[in-house]
Amino acid sequence: MSDAIRYERVGDIAVLTAQNPPVNALGVDVRKGLLSGIERAEADGAKAVLIYGDGRTYFAGADIREFGKPMLDPGLPDLGSRIEASPLIVVSAMHGTALGGGLEIALCSHYRIAVPSAKMGLPEVNLGILPGAGGTQRLPRVAGTEAALDMITSGRPIKAPEALDKGIIDRVTEGEPREIGLAYAQELLDAGAARRAVCDMPAPEMIDFDTRYDAVLKKGRGQISPATALRSVQAACEADNFEAGLKRERELFMELMNSDQRQGMVHAFFSERAVSKLPELKGVTPRTLAQIGVIGGGTMGAGIATAALLSGLKVTMLEMTDEAAAAAKGRIEGNLQGALKRGKISQDQFDILTQQSLVLATDYAALAEADLVIEAVFEDMSVKKTVFTQLDAVCKPGAILASNTSYLDVNEIAACTSRPEDVIGLHFFSPAHIMKLLEVVVADKTAIDVVATGFALGKMLNKITVRAGVCDGFIGNRILATYRSCADQMILDGASPYQIDAAMTKFGFAMGPYAVSDLAGLDIGWASRKRKRAAGMDPRARDSVYADKLCEAGHFGQKTGKGYYVYEAGKRGGTPNPEVAALIEANRAELGITPREFTDEEITRRYMCAMVNEAAKVVGEGIARRPLDVDMTLLFGYGFPRYHGGPLKWADIQGLDGILADIKTYAQEDDYFWQPAPLLEQLVAEGRSFDDLNKGSN
Ligand code: 3HC
Ligand code: NAI
Repeated sequence: MSDAIRYERVGDIAVLTAQNPPVNALGVDVRKGLLSGIERAEADGAKAVLIYGDGRTYFAGADIREFGKPMLDPGLPDLGSRIEASPLIVVSAMHGTALGGGLEIALCSHYRIAVPSAKMGLPEVNLGILPGAGGTQRLPRVAGTEAALDMITSGRPIKAPEALDKGIIDRVTEGEPREIGLAYAQELLDAGAARRAVCDMPAPEMIDFDTRYDAVLKKGRGQISPATALRSVQAACEADNFEAGLKRERELFMELMNSDQRQGMVHAFFSERAVSKLPELKGVTPRTLAQIGVIGGGTMGAGIATAALLSGLKVTMLEMTDEAAAAAKGRIEGNLQGALKRGKISQDQFDILTQQSLVLATDYAALAEADLVIEAVFEDMSVKKTVFTQLDAVCKPGAILASNTSYLDVNEIAACTSRPEDVIGLHFFSPAHIMKLLEVVVADKTAIDVVATGFALGKMLNKITVRAGVCDGFIGNRILATYRSCADQMILDGASPYQIDAAMTKFGFAMGPYAVSDLAGLDIGWASRKRKRAAGMDPRARDSVYADKLCEAGHFGQKTGKGYYVYEAGKRGGTPNPEVAALIEANRAELGITPREFTDEEITRRYMCAMVNEAAKVVGEGIARRPLDVDMTLLFGYGFPRYHGGPLKWADIQGLDGILADIKTYAQEDDYFWQPAPLLEQLVAEGRSFDDLNKGSN
């Protein structure tokens, strides 16, 4: 018997208890234990078998760490079928999260009971695969085709009462899984209940799968697992028999298991958990966080205040004037209204948050007791320095002074205070109460418990928190500046913004870079270009001015109704702005460029090579600690398609040598922009990958 499954007899019932913390994943030892447990129960005269999990959950799924390795026997599908074929009555009692292979094992049991708080689902599509242990065959048989299709293609888990309504489980009962499971199994035995195998149920109802396929494919924006999972459910409806359906499921499962997207999504799963685990923070106690101050209640300050209020913090919002403070309050209330509408908070909570937890101020004295103050004023070093000098004067000792600056030097900001060890960058993304990313920017003198507090804040606000070092733009905006510059150069050389947007949406981004610029406001990029020119650009750097012309004419994108696209009121999205082509042509003529054709493939390759190269520099310079930090930054802050895993995971999958070779080819035209990252050259020379660096850092 394996240690991962404990076997015991309680009267006529053989009890199989999973003991594989933390989530009872169905690794090889658990599978072996279940198989021998069933065999033993049958051999020693038991009449029923109860399966449940010790600790916090029933099986949360297959062991994802085994993916991509040869499957060790017994495989999950065979194990499931063996459990289902048992002549004994098999009962699963669920609590916690019965997900993926976990729910599949439950579906192979003959009866299912759960505690009310249990959640169950088939989230495999989120890992780039499909339920591969009979889930696409059994779930539609018990829940019907439509309900099963919804759960399988979305991956969304449901709560036990809903599962009961859908016929997925037989009973919901309060209590401990072991006790309710034993009582239910005994009740079934006493009632002389028959064995009940889902595989013997009739095939589920046929629907118009082809129409659904197109819709699911479109919704997936290039992600193939939901649409492939749909085909597997289709097999449940139309295969000659259950076995044939299972066989089809296996084929489709293996197709996805061997796909690049599976690699990307599994990388994302583990990286989002690893990203905030920094060895240097082990054992470091964060400072107390109960009351925070936010300075500047514009777009960002209002969003940060909203996020903080929603997580239970008290917030003092400091603005320049009473009018500006009132406007800030209006923005925060607007954000909280959204949370109210989405059912995240009640009206009572809304009232408490806006009337008691939020205080407005125009005097710095109001920040004297704050544990943390986050500055979100204009992006101007002299304004920031004035703010930090005043904060230094009023804040209590030990208070953390943070800046939400997008690009500015946090060391320089820290140096204007008498307590640089208390100063840190907390770079939120817009809208700050919605976007998941938080870059914790660690300056030269930032104290370690201040860093730990930044991460603790991220956890409180439910963010993906990434450590970044100080440089222009930190991790994300620095890489963004490079790939945007690459796109701008392709435009000068002959591509159009619309072709680039189309190529990058085909790659999987929800929006292309020019549509994103219109959304964020073209004035942001304009200000940044002016700042760079004022600081003195390297004469070898190619500069473009066509976008400045749009701004000079007052076109800042969506907020003014015109940018790269024209936006009509009431319509979603925009249509290409006909004025843009002439501006680009004029810019090309000025620079003496004869435009050439670009294929979508070349656009994507150059764009991605620029992104990867800069990302490699960011890691090589220690701005990001590990490649996975870059990957998570791009995934959660910049809309990078999750199924590619992040730019550096994507690069590993493509092959680093090919990427380096392409960068060197591009460098023949422009050896200033395309300087290969030393880390990329090193990895290619050593035959290693970015993921090797991730592993080496654990
Ligand atoms: N396999 C291996 N490790 C797993 C795992 C799994 N299925 N699920 C979670 N873990 C690990 C996590 O990586 C984490 O490890 P760490 O502490 O070293 O970082 C640890 O367990 C705890 O996980 P969380 O931090 O995520 O804990 P939470 O309590 O926040 O969440 C959970 C628990 C809801 C179960 C969440 O972990 C989760 O969603 N897990 C994945 C569930 C899933 O996708 N199951 C389907 C797997 S695919 C499958 O079953 C294929 C089959 O059809 C053949
Ligand atoms: P914004 O212009 O919308 O808001 C700035 C606010 O600060 C205004 O309400 C203004 O009244 C107030 N303010 C200015 N000086 C002040 C002072 N001395 N004291 C008190 N209040 C003052 O600007 P936004 O977009 O919110 O940006 C703020 C900061 O956040 C900038 O540093 C920016 O770079 C950064 N940031 C912006 C992002 C964005 O997408 N807008 C994303 C991430 C960071």
